[in-house]
Amino acid sequence: MKIRKATLKDADGIVHLINVHAEKGQMLFRSREDVCTHIRDFLIAEKNGRIAGACGLNFGPGSLVEVRSLAVLPDYYRQGIGTALVNACIVQATLTDCERIFVLTYAMPLFEKLGFHIINMDQLPDKIWKDCQGCRKQDHCDETAMIRNLVQVAKPSGEAGQDPEQTSNPELCQGITESR
Ligand SMILES: CC(C)(COP(=O)(O)OP(=O)(O)OC[C@H]1O[C@@H](n2cnc3c(N)ncnc32)[C@H](O)[C@@H]1OP(=O)(O)O)[C@@H](O)C(=O)NCCC(=O)NCCS
Repeated sequence: MKIRKATLKDADGIVHLINVHAEKGQMLFRSREDVCTHIRDFLIAEKNGRIAGACGLNFGPGSLVEVRSLAVLPDYYRQGIGTALVNACIVQATLTDCERIFVLTYAMPLFEKLGFHIINMDQLPDKIWKDCQGCRKQDHCDETAMIRNLVQVAKPSGEAGQDPEQTSNPELCQGITESR
């Protein structure tokens, strides 16, 4: 299994993955247009040439970042793919100098194992709720908010610090590759 950054060629696969789960009420629907607009913030888990899972990062406000639209194809559940994707998000967020990463989720045990802890939703900034507009559960959200602090890492000087392939901490970004 390989974790890599998404490209526009992955857009249909990502939309399918998200909307399969959205139909079951497990996450919010996302349009192809929305996915394409944010394609640089998506990571893909590829297995045998197939998109087995994906997730996105939603940056802002400030140094807070959200893990969004985490989904694994049911055929591949419980093989560590969700964990690998969230770990890769943690790497990306750390390299982008984010200080904290949060998620709204039903899969609390997965995030707990990765160092997230539960917080009251009121502690999250109002701005993040814009994505919830249109959700039928907007006024009675039953997801759990979880957050984790990120450790700041030493990076090489210049722009290279944003690139996981050029970080001075290869262990941290092990496993994420650029798609070409
Ligand atoms: C949640 C989801 C991404 C997990 O993906 P996965 O690849 O099966 O996860 P992993 O194999 O890495 O699981 C690691 C651990 O997380 C926990 N876990 C996994 N799926 C879980 C779930 N649905 N509910 C609760 N805990 C879960 C388990 O403790 C698991 O360890 P175990 O298999 O040794 O018991 C996947 O079930 C999914 O796509 N679900 C529907 C969409 C969704 O809920 N996304 C999360 C939105 S934030």
